[in-house]
Amino acid sequence: MNNETTIEKPLVVGISGASGSIIASKLVDALIERDIQVALIVSHASRIVWKQEMDESFGEFLERKIQTGKVKNYHIGDIQAPMASGTYPIRGMVIVPCSMATVAALATGLADNLLRRTADVCFKERRPITIVPRETPLSQLHLENLSKLANMGANIMPPQPAFYLKPNSLDDVVEFLVQRLLMTCGITDELPQDIRYNGPN
Ligand SMILES: Cc1cc2nc3c(=O)[nH]c(=O)nc-3n(C[C@H](O)[C@H](O)[C@H](O)COP(=O)(O)O)c2cc1C
Repeated sequence: MNNETTIEKPLVVGISGASGSIIASKLVDALIERDIQVALIVSHASRIVWKQEMDESFGEFLERKIQTGKVKNYHIGDIQAPMASGTYPIRGMVIVPCSMATVAALATGLADNLLRRTADVCFKERRPITIVPRETPLSQLHLENLSKLANMGANIMPPQPAFYLKPNSLDDVVEFLVQRLLMTCGITDELPQDIRYNGPN
């Protein structure tokens, strides 16, 4: 039997209710720019945080991005969405920003919504997964949970600025983080020249 059909594998971008909506927003833009198919899964809490941090609601943002034809949104409760199964091919997953609640759920295998289930599938299928945990300071429990995820193969990328690049603005910081994320997810293999460390001046 040879019924193979090829689909353009999406990168799943999960957005949970930690601070840092702007990183998710700019990552989606960067993926669209690179013609990468994006499958979005956003938690209820992330919509609340988004509304507080951004100039528009997540719904308004999504409406514009869907028009590019590169972005599809999956409801957090849609547990029958294709990526809930390991048989559905995806490039991998990024959770940005990732709340400590979601970190804890992933560390204990609590796959009780589509975002967490998709991450759980990434772990069992040993697919690339990058987690951008955002909380400060971190408790011992946060660290233990993150350590478990790292041991299972996740890339843990806290949203920390590259101070040595002397960023002038939040935009500079976010641009660096997005470029770093693209590298971590294997979309690009090097950073743009102007945001690399090139040794002391
Ligand atoms: C404005 C705002 C900012 C928040 N920032 C964080 C944060 O940086 N890190 C975190 O772990 N939780 C943060 N929270 C709490 C989470 O949203 C909350 O624990 C939520 O239950 C997470 O659910 P989720 O992981 O399903 O999105 C924040 C909540 C609000 C309203």
